[in-house]
Amino acid sequence: MRNLGLLVAGVVLLAGGLAGLGGLGLGLLGPGPLSVEAARGEWIFQTGTDPDTGEPIPYSGGMPMVMGCAGCHGPDGRGLRTPMFISPDITYRNLTDPGGMVEPDGSRGPRYTDELIRRAITVGVDAEGRPLAWPMPRWRLTDRQWQELLAYLKSLP
Ligand code: HEC
Repeated sequence: MRNLGLLVAGVVLLAGGLAGLGGLGLGLLGPGPLSVEAARGEWIFQTGTDPDTGEPIPYSGGMPMVMGCAGCHGPDGRGLRTPMFISPDITYRNLTDPGGMVEPDGSRGPRYTDELIRRAITVGVDAEGRPLAWPMPRWRLTDRQWQELLAYLKSLP
């Protein structure tokens, strides 16, 4: 009986460990595991590279350093304050808030749609067509990379 108890405890520990590992890569910040698409988007968000090739996603302008979105918008996408720049909360929830996105200073900005988010990332203008502040690079995303990134932005709490 004693051995059986140990065995059960071992299996429970193992299962817990595996679940923990799964949670590390997938859905670290979200409530549940991410879809494959969103998990690939998380990779792009964190590293700024393509999930298949590992090649940096080409960009122009912005601060001259290679990093993912997380480097500037924070690992959770909620924005950062640094001596160099202040970056906004780019979770899908915030960007598409019916009352307008909440800016870093607490005021309300424009409301984004999916296509306007894509335009901001690739062309560098906000939802009303005004140029974004210089640190934000313009990213040359493929359709697939864009869909994956969008799926991840939607998964952020
Ligand atoms: C080098 C720093 C940097 C990196 C890297 C970066 N951003 Fe930005 N981003 C900014 C800053 C700063 C702003 C604010 C621009 C402004 O307020 O005009 C911004 C603005 C934005 C906006 C518009 C929000 C608004 O205020 O209207 C979106 C959307 C966005 N970033 C998404 C992304 C995504 C997605 C990535 C990764 C593919 C990324 N950013 C990478 C610095 C960065």
